[in-house]
Amino acid sequence: MLNLVILISGRGSNMENILKAVKKNKIPIKPLLVISNKPNAKGLAIAQKLGVKTEVVESDGLKGGNWEYDSKLVSVLEKHRITPQNCLICLAGFMRIMSPEFIRHYKGRIMNIHPAILPAFPGLHSQRQALEYGVKYSGCTVHFVDEGVDTGPIILQSVVKIKNSDTEESISKKILKEEHKIYPKAVKLFAKGKIKIDGRKTIIS
Ligand code: GRF
Repeated sequence: MLNLVILISGRGSNMENILKAVKKNKIPIKPLLVISNKPNAKGLAIAQKLGVKTEVVESDGLKGGNWEYDSKLVSVLEKHRITPQNCLICLAGFMRIMSPEFIRHYKGRIMNIHPAILPAFPGLHSQRQALEYGVKYSGCTVHFVDEGVDTGPIILQSVVKIKNSDTEESISKKILKEEHKIYPKAVKLFAKGKIKIDGRKTIIS
């Protein structure tokens, strides 16, 4: 069975939701480890309560997209016997850009959730970007991580309607609800071997 690793930086609601879904829906993957780059991430206590091992790999002062930090992550993963052949790594509110070396090492095995319908509004504050742009619909995207920022092959997307009365907060709330639906679905598809990457596209059987 594959090992599931989830990387977080804060609240960890996607992490919690995935961990609960794995149990409840009997997704064939072992939730092995949660790693945070922030020692005070709320999600750490939640993971521990759910019986999942946690590690903190502090990133303070270390630039994103850099092997210096990411090699520490690899060492921790290796310590837990996680290899590029036996894992799925889910980024869930992990507020760092991964280095090209890390991405190549775990090629096709790193997923991310982004709170917009990519390729629209990549990067930070996507909900605010959507609101300011005036789009009528936004949503969320689960995608594989490649060497760009939010540019990897798309796995699943879900749409929400934006009303005139919406605020950044209300949009974020609506989108998060959809995130919680599609991220576990994507994990399940991967765990069951149902996702194939074909260039920019994913083929889901
Ligand atoms: C989510 O909105 C996710 O799309 C983005 O960061 C947020 C993380 O929230 N990448 P949580 O920590 O999972 O609650």
